[in-house]
Order: sequence, then structure tokens, then C-alpha cells
Amino acid sequence: MTVERTENPRAQIGVTGLAVMGSNIARNFARHGHTVALHNRSVAKTDALLEAHGDDGDFVRTETIEEFVAALQKPRRVLIMVKAGAATDAVIEELANAMEPGDIIIDGGNALYTDTIRREAALRERGLHFVGAGISGGEEGALNGPSIMPGGPTESYEALGPLLESISAHVDGTPCCTHIGPDGSGHFVKMVHNGIEYADMQLIGEAYNLLRDALGYDATTIADVFSEWNTGTLESYLIEITADVLRQTDATTGKPLVDVIVDAAEQKGTGRWTVKSALDLGVPVTGIAEAVFARALSGSRTQRAAARGLASGALGDKPADATQFTEDIRRALYASKIVAYAQGFDQIAAGSAEYGWNVDRAALATIWRGGCIIRAQFLNRIKEAYDADPQLPSLILAPYFREAIEAGIDSWRRVVATATMLGIPVPAFASSLSYYDGLRAERLPAALTQGQRDFFGAHTYERIDADGKFHTLWSGDRSEIRA
Ligand code: 6PG
Repeated sequence: MTVERTENPRAQIGVTGLAVMGSNIARNFARHGHTVALHNRSVAKTDALLEAHGDDGDFVRTETIEEFVAALQKPRRVLIMVKAGAATDAVIEELANAMEPGDIIIDGGNALYTDTIRREAALRERGLHFVGAGISGGEEGALNGPSIMPGGPTESYEALGPLLESISAHVDGTPCCTHIGPDGSGHFVKMVHNGIEYADMQLIGEAYNLLRDALGYDATTIADVFSEWNTGTLESYLIEITADVLRQTDATTGKPLVDVIVDAAEQKGTGRWTVKSALDLGVPVTGIAEAVFARALSGSRTQRAAARGLASGALGDKPADATQFTEDIRRALYASKIVAYAQGFDQIAAGSAEYGWNVDRAALATIWRGGCIIRAQFLNRIKEAYDADPQLPSLILAPYFREAIEAGIDSWRRVVATATMLGIPVPAFASSLSYYDGLRAERLPAALTQGQRDFFGAHTYERIDADGKFHTLWSGDRSEIRA
């Protein structure tokens, strides 16, 4: 451990904001042989880190921002790990005042991508590089290898990429870190990553709910089902930890922990941002939206208390063959998961087109194979699909995914129908299936919607047999005119 106050610029990277994520990333850099300058608003956190983990590598202890900046080699690289929002702006301002043109500020928090776009432009004016970097993997990932999604100027990646790649997770020798694109693209894709995370978690929750309420399985039995699923196409971090959570026994009551946790899911906002952005971009991310709303519904405690006991209507029979139904749920989960990822990748394509980011979806799937919360075997398949066709209109059209869905479609319908007949809510399973049916439909009721819009607002419509826009004179003789 080297603990010193120094004006010698010997640190390759600085980390400011030493809560758990910041501390772990700083330790990760140090463990990879980089000298890390440490800074925190209250120096007690810096000292606590050095006290507990100073042996991880070479750290430079600093107290003031000026001292912190002076400890860094040029171009200076500072990673900010503070709460998204006003706190980030305050730290950026302090840093920018102490830094010089060519220096790089990296925001590793879950910032809103539009904030990142704004900050990047403002700092560019001052000659500084600003890199909004999505970092996924939670506390454990931050320490042992996260997935890193840096945006910002291409030049800054030259000075930053090797450092970030060295601490990221690696899959088959490939780092889970790549330059995503300019300005806010890194935080945008991290936001969508989190949206997909919400959908994935909701789908897993629905599968658990069905195993519990349709089949009457207890938590340990369900844990075994998830462990089994984790050996196949569903293999993923979230399925793996689901089994762990379900196996945990509560020390106080001796019951499964999951049975004593209040069933109201919270959220910090990235899922909601994803849906808001999808609404603006006009991308139907129905799985993600249902997941966000399902959390909101779970947290509507007053309404839920008042509605408990409302009539269910006549319910159907529970599945006769538990083994068959478990397999149906597995297939429905996989198909719905494919839809959620397809929608998320569509949103990334739309965001990329809107902002001119040129995001490479195959490269993104590559860096999501390890380190991040949604890491999963099937990200390899997504990578292959976009490698084979970078312009793929939808993931569900790639041969592998098409076959997977076609193999599971009967199961998927049985699960949604059975859940409906048993009064078990499956918003994400059901909306994903409806999305699939909507996308493959020969004809949608949108024709009627257009007729209605033309009726009450003269909004016009297109015809299937002629170019141009048309309007029917609804309040006149109901003849059609060209608009
Ligand atoms: C990650 C996680 C991380 C965080 C989520 C939790 O990729 O490491 O997504 O960013 O745990 O923001 O989000 P909610 O609190 O909204 O569930």
C-alpha cells in the first residue's frame, strides 16, 4: 500500500465518489496494476477504503479536488461515481474548473442520457472530454469485472479504452467494454440494458408465480426448477440468482425468505426512463413497459388492500400434468425473453438513428455476455444474429430465435391461457405473446383506427390499392377525395 499526499502526477486514473460502487471500481483498477488517485467529499470514506483495502494496489490519497487533479498523469482521467442528477453536475463543475483542455471526465453512474448529451456538449466547449459510461454488474461486478458501455468522443476512447477494458469482465478473452458511440450513447444503452433487466426480472417473477400458484410448488422446489433451467438455453445470471434467493431461509421465522419479503417492488428510475424514451421514439417495448407498470402496481398498497377479495369469476382447473406445465412455462419464459430483448435492441436502433450514434448491436451484445446483470448464454446468439445481418429488422426474425419461438409457441399460448383461467396475472408473458401475434398478423385493426380518425378529425388514411392520402367526406355525401 502506498498512502501519501503528493503533487507528483503519477496516477493513471482518479476515482471520486467512494461509496460501494466507486470503492470497488477503484480497487479493481488498483488490482490491475493501475495507480489510482482517490477522492471523496468526506475524506473519512477515502481513509476507510485505504484502511480496509489499501493492499489491493497503488493508491494516492487526496483530500481536495485540486490535490486530486494534481495527482493525475495527463491527459487526466477522472471517473465520477456519485448519485445521478445534481450531485453529478456539482462534481463536474468542480473538476472542470481544476482540469485542463484534453482531460477526460467519465461519469460511471446511471445518468439520464439526455443529461449526458448536455454535459458532453458543455464540456466540449471548454476543451474537456466527457464520457458517459454505463457500468453494469452491481457491487460484485464493479470489483471483479463489470460490463462497461462508454460513450463520448472517439479520441477519448484511445486514452481511456485500454484502462477500462483491463478492469472489465472478459468472455472468451474478449473484454466486456467497447466504445458505444458519441455523447450520450453509452448511458442510453445502459438505460435500455436496465429496461431489459426489468423485463427479464418480471418474466422470471411471472414464471415463479405460476409455479407457486398454478402448481402449488414451494420455494425450494421452485429453486430446483430454476437451477435446472439454468443448465439450458435460459442459462443466465438472473436465473442463477433467482434459485439462490428462493433457497434462502429467513433466520427469524425459518420460512423461505421470499415468503417474508413484502411484495412491493421498488425502482430507482432507469426502467421508467427506458419506457419514456421508447414512447418518444415510437418503439413498442411492451415487455419493459409491463415490467415497469407491474412494479408500480405491486407498490399500490392502498388500492391493493381495497381490491383484495374482488371477484375472480369462475376459474379453470389447475394443470393436470405438472411436469408438462413446468416445461410450458420454461418455453414461454424463453419466448417472452426473446421478445423483450428484441424490443430493447429495436429501441437501441431507433435511438442510434435519432441521434446519429451508429451503435453496433453485435458489439453491444458481445459486451453484455459478461459482467452485466442481464448476462446470459443467449447473448452469444444475439451477437451471431447481428453479425450475420447488422440491419436485422427484428431479432425474432433471426433463424435461431425464430425457431426457438416456433418451438415454444404452443407452450406460450397454453401458459397465457391457463394463467388467465386461473386468475394469475402474467402481464409480461401475455403482452409479449400479443406483440408477437401483432407483428406477424396479416392485418391489424389499425385500419379501423385510421377510419375513426378520419371520421372525427379528417386525419386521412392510405389505401391498400393506391398511393397517396385519402379522406372520406363523412358529414357530406360520404364520397372519397384525395387529401
Ligand atoms: C446494473 C444494475 C444497476 C442497478 C439498477 C437497479 O446494471 O448493475 O442495473 O444499475 O442495480 O439501477 O435498478 P432499480 O433500483 O430501478 O431496480
